[in-house]
Amino acid sequence: MPLDRRTFLKGLGLSTIGIAGSTGAGSDDLAFVSQAAAGTPPEQTVNFAENVIYQIISDRFRDGNPDNNATGELASDDCSNLRKYCGGDWQGIIDKIQSGYLTDLGVSAVWISPPFENITAVDSDIGTSYHGYWARDFTDTNQFFGDMETFKQLVDVAHQNGIKVVIDFVPNHTSPSTSDDELEDGVLYDNGSYVAAYNDDPESYFHHNGGTDYSSYEDQIYRNLYNLADFDQHEAYIDQYLKDAIKQWLDTGIDGIRVDAVAHMPPKWQKTLVDTIYDHRPVFTFGEWFLGADQSNPRYYEFSNDSGMSLLDFRFGHEIRQVLRDFTDDWYGFRDMLQETAAEHDQVIDQVPFIDNHDMPRFTVEGGDTRNTDMALAVLLTSRGTPAVYYGTEQYLTGGNDPENRKPMPSFDTTTTAYKVIQELTALRSSNPALAYGDTEERWINSDVFVYEREFGDNVVLVAINRSLDWYDVSGLHTSLPEGTYDDVLGGTLDGFTATVNADGSIDTFSLSPQTVCVWEYTGTTTEPALGHVGPTMGQPGHTVVLSGDGFGSTEGTVEFGTTSASVTSWSDTEIEATVPAVSGGYYDVTVTDANGVQSTPFSGYEVLSGDQISARFVVNDATTDMGENVYVVGNVHELGNWDADRAVGPFFNQVVHEYPNWYYDVNLPAGTDIEFKFVKIASDGTVTWESGSNRTYTTPTDSTGEYTGTWK
Ligand code: NOJ
Ligand code: NOJ
Ligand code: CA
Ligand code: CA
Repeated sequence: MPLDRRTFLKGLGLSTIGIAGSTGAGSDDLAFVSQAAAGTPPEQTVNFAENVIYQIISDRFRDGNPDNNATGELASDDCSNLRKYCGGDWQGIIDKIQSGYLTDLGVSAVWISPPFENITAVDSDIGTSYHGYWARDFTDTNQFFGDMETFKQLVDVAHQNGIKVVIDFVPNHTSPSTSDDELEDGVLYDNGSYVAAYNDDPESYFHHNGGTDYSSYEDQIYRNLYNLADFDQHEAYIDQYLKDAIKQWLDTGIDGIRVDAVAHMPPKWQKTLVDTIYDHRPVFTFGEWFLGADQSNPRYYEFSNDSGMSLLDFRFGHEIRQVLRDFTDDWYGFRDMLQETAAEHDQVIDQVPFIDNHDMPRFTVEGGDTRNTDMALAVLLTSRGTPAVYYGTEQYLTGGNDPENRKPMPSFDTTTTAYKVIQELTALRSSNPALAYGDTEERWINSDVFVYEREFGDNVVLVAINRSLDWYDVSGLHTSLPEGTYDDVLGGTLDGFTATVNADGSIDTFSLSPQTVCVWEYTGTTTEPALGHVGPTMGQPGHTVVLSGDGFGSTEGTVEFGTTSASVTSWSDTEIEATVPAVSGGYYDVTVTDANGVQSTPFSGYEVLSGDQISARFVVNDATTDMGENVYVVGNVHELGNWDADRAVGPFFNQVVHEYPNWYYDVNLPAGTDIEFKFVKIASDGTVTWESGSNRTYTTPTDSTGEYTGTWK
């Protein structure tokens, strides 16, 4: 059955059990599950690598409760106006979980639209808040999606069916502040009480620096994105408001968070947000750093590696569209993208690849060949990372830019080829850990054909794809699959066939027919510890960390952070739970040693923070610099680089909030701590100029935000 049975059973603490019924929503299953695990979250909320996420625009999936529909100017009952509310809601998602549509598809997480109360005004051009990105009160629900009780029911029903719930969180802004005042002026409420609006903002809860022209990182953080009222996260009230809000939603039992617009908020403040999340209840957190096609940005990778959260994999998303949708690039370009992302991301398997989403034209082209969609889904679902499938892609929904890419679900047909491809590969993702944790190796390539292998422990998946209308002979192919005969996992759905692997790992020359995808797999018995995933990748001493992989053995061994042992709270052959030991802040290699003394290869770069994190703004005035030189801060705590100028924090900004020769940067620091530090200037060739005199000192606040201002010396 396509349910993530492995994870599900692990959640019950069972290794094998027969569950009657072959479909996820069979009545036997439900009866069994609701007794055993009603309301119990899937155990694994930090590791999504074995999962497949299904992205839903809540207003467009299904109307499960017409009583909560918007009316009048806000509504478009037949959804002919795609900028208005069309009636979809959480009850509709509950219905489609219970009917088996999502469980049979095999997706194991749903990512829903921002669930918060949004503004209820209509703008004649840009429409309504049907998408959920125009929050008014982060503590309440969007009434058109449902009330809090229905939200909790969604979480419960999802959990009972092995599905995790991911919410979209939007801490960058409230809603548009339009000059013609058609909307609600970015108004903010807290638990039903008015707080402020963009033009009624005596406490400066919002930035008032105009709209961004994207000319620099600083510009896009501290100015409004479009005309969305931009929060000042440095303001103590807003910092607390947003952190309290996410804690409240974590308390509903959600399993994941997608963070909107992460390229538009101070990166180190976001690190304090992620610390708040992991400290409260760790869940898989991934951000949206929008990259355009063919854009690669060092800041993007830096954020993915430093913030503690993952990113939506825009590099993958654009590349696969070029190769299989637009045919503007070929498999060599795809291979290069795989190599670049594997090299640049510390944890490429934690990123979230996709083939389309609500911010780009649908993958399926009107009047185009849906076979391209099927092939792209097969590549996506056998990819490294946690794949996200956009709702309706399995029904070949088409549409250009927003809002055309957000049409209502046209049908819930379970017989489409795309539905079958997803079904077959979600099942493989949960049964063969090579897809979740394996590296990706090129085995054969030309512009039209790509044969790649995923391997982890003794598990192997080999994929062969020919995107073209031509036949190709594939000769000289080698694989890690053991000698034997392998049926196509897709059962011929995309014309795949059986392969025979010789004793030396070779496969005799074969012909790959047009538009064919073959998937061959071997699930082995890993006997030495293979560590695939550690999550979260950042935390504090005392936090729980989950290690996933294969071959840990059934007898408890040891987990180490560097050379310090971590106490183990649970141990199985594929999953260990341990507690981050009381080591000082820094980066640690994490290893698993089994009961026979065999050690895994290390998971590098687990970040131990020095304690609860707060955000502080460091300002240094009168720091004149030469061309190419920038100001940074370095100090005596891990968060300030432990006096290592190579790890100095910055570069500081000097154009929007303060202007050159004054510089500022919002920094994450351990709360309630006496720190010593200096500002430094670092030239483009790396030359470091330290401030003269004694170290500066600063005691960080115990919560809330802080500020330190000094003059360069
Ligand atoms: C990115 C979201 O995905 C997009 O749909 C939204 O409009 C903007 N961020 C602003 O919230
Ligand atoms: C590191 C030292 O520990 C610190 O005290 C000093 O100010 C800087 N280096 C600059 O010399
Ligand atoms: Ca409704
Ligand atoms: Ca911002």
